[in-house]
Amino acid sequence: MTFFEWKDEYSGGIESIDEQHKVIITLMNELYYSIVHEKADAATKAVFVELLKYANYHFNLENKLFNKYDYKEKAEHLDQHAHFITKVKNLMIKDYLSQRDVQIETLHYLRLWFQDHMMKIDMEYCRYFRLRQVLDEVEAYLVANK
Ligand SMILES: [Fe+2]
Ligand SMILES: [Fe+2]
Repeated sequence: MTFFEWKDEYSGGIESIDEQHKVIITLMNELYYSIVHEKADAATKAVFVELLKYANYHFNLENKLFNKYDYKEKAEHLDQHAHFITKVKNLMIKDYLSQRDVQIETLHYLRLWFQDHMMKIDMEYCRYFRLRQVLDEVEAYLVANK
């Protein structure tokens, strides 16, 4: 039983970015599994740790791409990344303080992040790279910098 599934239509045309975006779906499904099976503590903490590791890695790569290709919407984009990190840290603290419903709140937030950031704002830079005809070059850069 999964909460959310990847569909091909979610692709922005850069395979390495798609693969990284799939990580958030995996984490949502892990969180959902622990909610359904009432595995609160350890499982949720592991999801938070992975989320922060994932976010740092992924945001850092997007930032490098924006610099490399002189992406004009960079500032607004990075603001959203910063908000994400703050929000996840706050949820982590709430979880540590054993506040109720943190898992469900986190799941909702990640679902919104997928819709409002990854499927909108991230797709804009994918479009920009497509227009500049550098999709293959970007993919090669990401593979080389794994
Ligand atoms: Fe992204
Ligand atoms: Fe992003």
